[in-house]
Amino acid sequence: MTLSSGQSTPHDARSAVVREALRAVLDDPARPGLDVVDIGGGTGGLAVLVAAAGHRVTVVDPSPDALASLARRAREREVVVEGRQGDLSTLLDAVGPASADVVLCHGVLEMVADTGAALAAIGEVLRPGGTLSLLVAQRSAAVIARAMAGHFDQARGLLDDTTPEPRSGGRSFRRFSLTEISTAVTAAGFEISATHGVRVFADLVPGSLLDLEPGATTALAELEHAVSQRVDYVPLAGQLHLTAQR
Ligand SMILES: C[S@@+](CC[C@H](N)C(=O)[O-])C[C@H]1O[C@@H](n2cnc3c(N)ncnc32)[C@H](O)[C@@H]1O
Repeated sequence: MTLSSGQSTPHDARSAVVREALRAVLDDPARPGLDVVDIGGGTGGLAVLVAAAGHRVTVVDPSPDALASLARRAREREVVVEGRQGDLSTLLDAVGPASADVVLCHGVLEMVADTGAALAAIGEVLRPGGTLSLLVAQRSAAVIARAMAGHFDQARGLLDDTTPEPRSGGRSFRRFSLTEISTAVTAAGFEISATHGVRVFADLVPGSLLDLEPGATTALAELEHAVSQRVDYVPLAGQLHLTAQR
């Protein structure tokens, strides 16, 4: 299992820490052919890599356009990924109880009104001993980004603001602190096995630098690994990745 796109791109530096954390779960020769559900898997960037590594992958996503792109991507990559239309509130109907060894929930919890209900649904879908891979936006990084853009009042307002931010189309977006997401995951009955900060530097480095400097993407990915579990750098990360068992 490589979980590699086969290319070295700026995106690889941003996702390197998550892919490495997933290797521990999806790269175990003693556990081939796992049932993996990617909730909110979108166009399937990760799902096709997991399928190419020999696992049975189902993507559940509310967007028909995303599912169509997923189908194209899977065909191009010559892997099978099942796409089902649904969302976190219908996850149990979409895939059934105790049907997954691994649930990927990356970049989705931010858009859900009831975090606890969403995590409970994931818990029901997982088999006993199954693993949740959860990736969420971290609030402190947004505070830093606003301050660096000169939006000091907005940064100040965001410091302790746990209410979701309104977005177009009546949607909203919630960011989490490490304490908030850890508490929610634990309250839903999971035991957290690892926590990583993701994109500590990757969002700050100009893409042109990575394109022009040979080896820069690899070096940046290694730097991201090196700081991903250091308590003094995790608060700077754009995202938080947690793995947890049920
Ligand atoms: C930011 S994208 C993340 C895509 C992918 N998981 C990734 O990490 O690249 C968010 C995805 O979540 C889907 N989504 C939005 N609301 C959702 C919900 N309530 N339940 C499940 N998926 C949702 C969107 O259609 C979109 O494909």
